[in-house]
Amino acid sequence: MNLVFLGPAGSGKGTQAKKLEADFGVTQISTGDLLREAVRLGTDLGKQADPLMQQGKLVPDELVVGIIEERFQRGGLENGFLLDGFPRTLPQAEALDRMLERNGMKLDKVLSLEVPEELLYERITGRRSCPKCGTVYHVSAAPPKRAGFCDIDGEALIQRSDDSPEKLKNRLEVFRKEIPQVKQHYARQGLLAEIHGVGTPEGIYTEIRKALGR
Ligand code: AP5
Ligand code: MG
Repeated sequence: MNLVFLGPAGSGKGTQAKKLEADFGVTQISTGDLLREAVRLGTDLGKQADPLMQQGKLVPDELVVGIIEERFQRGGLENGFLLDGFPRTLPQAEALDRMLERNGMKLDKVLSLEVPEELLYERITGRRSCPKCGTVYHVSAAPPKRAGFCDIDGEALIQRSDDSPEKLKNRLEVFRKEIPQVKQHYARQGLLAEIHGVGTPEGIYTEIRKALGR
């Protein structure tokens, strides 16, 4: 099962990806996570990406496509992959088509999580994550057992530096501008499924499984 998740900041791409990973063994590939790791390690890529991510702007297509190519070359995707946050522009979608063709692979479905913008502010400003294991929480919707600390390893939870209301505004503007072309691209290929992304994470997951016929 090879999938793509489209959806604005806070739409639940990461949350739903973890569920699919657990149930079907697909590998989540999040360009946001890969970029944050590059920033943390201080690589050249990280140094180029950091100021852009801080402003909620997109990292240039050629850099992101490079990351994805590298990830595919590393392999380990036999049970399928789930692209979380890629592609975000039409050139990225076209580059992905070419890359998959070269590798004799194809997409099975492109899931677009549809969530009204007013709900995204609360989701994003309330998000906390574990710097050690990456588990994502929400202060009210998905709180940890002990406020501020990870259930799994007890690590103090952190807030992403681009999760402020001002930066979210920029991220949503970019999304509104770029994503219609990406959706059109996949609708033309007959791959697009729009998922109503409001409700409990479990309810939304049921909708996703229906769309996948699983
Ligand atoms: P990225 O890390 O991908 O950020 P994003 O797209 O803004 O998405 P988020 O990770 O913020 O949200 P999510 O949909 O994963 O939501 P989550 O499940 O965590 O990208 C960051 C930056 O990297 C970009 O701005 C850009 O600069 C750069 N970048 C990345 N990819 C790029 C690309 N392809 N091209 C160029 N640049 C790129 O959920 C959010 C919160 O809501 C959590 O607290 C969660 O617990 C809660 N929640 C989830 N579901 C529900 C629900 N149903 N009800 C209530 N709360 C919920
Ligand atoms: Mg995410």
